Amino acid sequence: MNNFIEIINLKKVFNLSSNNKLLLFKNLNFNIPRNSITSIIGPSGCGKSTLLNILGLLDSNFGGKYFFDSISINKINNKKLNKIRNQKIGFVHQFFHLIPELSVVENIILPALVQKDKISDIIKDADNLLKVFEIFDKKNMKPNKLSGGEQQRVAIARSLINKPDLILADEMTGNLDEKTSDEIINFFLNFVANHNISLIYVTHNQRYADMAETQYKLENKNLVLK
Ligand SMILES: Nc1ncnc2c1ncn2[C@@H]1O[C@H](COP(=O)(O)OP(=O)(O)O)[C@@H](O)[C@H]1O
Ligand SMILES: [Mg+2]
Repeated sequence: MNNFIEIINLKKVFNLSSNNKLLLFKNLNFNIPRNSITSIIGPSGCGKSTLLNILGLLDSNFGGKYFFDSISINKINNKKLNKIRNQKIGFVHQFFHLIPELSVVENIILPALVQKDKISDIIKDADNLLKVFEIFDKKNMKPNKLSGGEQQRVAIARSLINKPDLILADEMTGNLDEKTSDEIINFFLNFVANHNISLIYVTHNQRYADMAETQYKLENKNLVLK
């Protein structure tokens, strides 16, 4: 298996009630190589977030096969699943999902604390990210004192702290004004391209979707190459 991510005949059904099922994907096939940038666009409710949850190992209740870096996700236990998710996958969300009680730097280092690295090394990595993302002067502030764009940069730094191989971004600019969105997307795509990371991002914005090397549309319960 040469692909970094390989999904074969994915099927996803939500059982809404005993006689009401929602079929989201049927025979969906998807693969990406390492170090690639992929966009997914599609109407609201078509299953974009559900697909990212599956890709991000947050939802293992699906039909079909999923290989992550040649590891069969269908066959491994929860402990291994959690380890892969924590060490190899970063997440960026529309509403940032920062913890309000923690400072900026505490939010960024949080995903790294379950690993056994020295805390001083983790903080050094966080400081580097804070500088790269131009929020070093906000390091000890609480997230609610920051602008939306700054909060998203904190969330992006957090997604990078464990040096992931894959980042999944769900409408990361959906809650930002156009100018800030443009800055964030340009900066982030550039960063990812220069750091051997694969990025899969969902967006409503055709202009942003067009910036990816590979562009998919989610329609008729399937992913279609643009
Ligand atoms: N946990 C769930 N249980 C039942 N239905 C769900 C669940 N999560 C999402 N859905 C439904 O699945 C569909 C796709 O949702 P979602 O993946 O969030 O779409 P998108 O991100 O493309 O807007 C929606 O109709 C939504 O209501
Ligand atoms: Mg969504």
